[in-house]
Amino acid sequence: MVTAYDSTFAAIAVEAGIDVLLVGDSLANTMLGMGRTAQVGMDEMLHHLRAVRRGAPEACVVADLPFGADATPELAAANSIRFREAGADAVKLEGCFPDRIEAIRAEGIEVVGHLGLLPQTAVSLKQVGRSDEERDRIVAEARAVEEAGCCAFVLEHIPAELGKIVTESVSIPTVAIGAGPHCAGQVLVMHDLLGLSARQPPFAKARIDLRGTVRETFAAWHREVAAREFPRI
Ligand code: KIV
Repeated sequence: MVTAYDSTFAAIAVEAGIDVLLVGDSLANTMLGMGRTAQVGMDEMLHHLRAVRRGAPEACVVADLPFGADATPELAAANSIRFREAGADAVKLEGCFPDRIEAIRAEGIEVVGHLGLLPQTAVSLKQVGRSDEERDRIVAEARAVEEAGCCAFVLEHIPAELGKIVTESVSIPTVAIGAGPHCAGQVLVMHDLLGLSARQPPFAKARIDLRGTVRETFAAWHREVAAREFPRI
């Protein structure tokens, strides 16, 4: 699973064989220049979800319920229906809220959970799940979101050993982002993977310096234009 926010990159991810696209609320940081994921709203999410669906008509697309869009079970269900109408195959819901998950499932919509570090509400982006108390809480939450009807859940920024414990405690797939190699799958923010992010999280290594490559390409073209070398006659 990788995040996608527009039609071009959605199509490339599908061409590359990536099986699930996540229209993450990381949209706030990666594409919209906002400081926190909690700043993005339903209208912006819908706009980008539609673009991803246009670029990847056959892909499995998951859309993140943004902060506040799942504040009550009724709201969570209504906004999930809006996502389904805009092309989502499933919605992702941050935190352990069994009543909200059940309300969405009652509409026949698949729900992907999200446990561990919860960027929508976290005061710090540090790793969580290090203490015995936090570990036990995350394991209990994992069981609760499975019981409520999630088809899978993301585990963000927890120790690898806890990723293993959680994965072995449930029967649905776990998807790691900074949660070690023992989860069933992995997800990364596209900008982190491609070296486009201004700030890289500690668990995501860029595979290419796309920011540098794009900057150099812009700069070379700009130099040629300034020197009247472009276009060549
Ligand atoms: O919004 C997002 O990109 C996410 C990932 C961190 C999984 O939720």
